[in-house]
Amino acid sequence: MTPDRRKSAHELLAFYAEAGVDALLGETPVDRFADTDGSVPPPERRRSIREADRVGVNTQADHPTPVSGEGMIFVAPDAAAMAAREAARSAKTLNELRALLDGFEGCALKATAKQLVFADGNPQAKVMFVGEAPGRDEDIEGLPFVGRSGKLLDRMMAAIGLDRTCVYIANIIPWRPPGNRTPTPQESAICLPFIRRQIELANPGILVCLGGPSAQTLLATREGILKTRGRWFAYQTGTREIRAIATLHPAYLLRQPLQKRLAWRDFLAIKKALG
Ligand code: URA
Repeated sequence: MTPDRRKSAHELLAFYAEAGVDALLGETPVDRFADTDGSVPPPERRRSIREADRVGVNTQADHPTPVSGEGMIFVAPDAAAMAAREAARSAKTLNELRALLDGFEGCALKATAKQLVFADGNPQAKVMFVGEAPGRDEDIEGLPFVGRSGKLLDRMMAAIGLDRTCVYIANIIPWRPPGNRTPTPQESAICLPFIRRQIELANPGILVCLGGPSAQTLLATREGILKTRGRWFAYQTGTREIRAIATLHPAYLLRQPLQKRLAWRDFLAIKKALG
């Protein structure tokens, strides 16, 4: 390869990395219709995006789905959502839930993410924040909200006297979507039972939805965040009713700093509610 072509190849790779491409497509096409017996190779953490499109259940994990055989079997998204509901329901503690989620193979995002991003902060906290999905920094560190928007969230919390020792933080989706793309409705539906159970087990007094996708998913509203934010909702955890509020996502505030005044109002409402 000539030096010029090598330089262009490096520039192209740098461009892909910048754009968030972090997995490769396989060179050989996969005939999905040929896999009728469900037998596929054992799981590899770094499968191609095409293979990662399939959803599956790791039969070796501590998982209630009654399946036989070794390694992965692939199931339809509906079956994955059902397996998620069963798995989430069976968790008696947050640690059990984390372990079940770590062994769950029903969400294709797991295949492209580096690791599970379960939670940060204090699970005994009175207030729980729920964002949308981890980004690059969270994927690397395995903790939610540690990147630029996380730093802003820390400052917003500090403004009302909170820090990570007295709040609990999680996301609707616990694996980074490739290139930070928006999670699909299917992915959200598969992950929903887990975050709902996480809220139930953490049992906070107040739930704060960070951004539109979190509010729409947890508060079952179709309204945009600018309409939803700042209003109190009743949220049924499964064992009791708690108060929930939505506010603007810190990533949005980084792009629209003038909107911080709205978020400030929401945070003052949270402070008042916490007494
Ligand atoms: N944005 C989110 O919604 N969650 C994170 O953890 C980080 C960024």
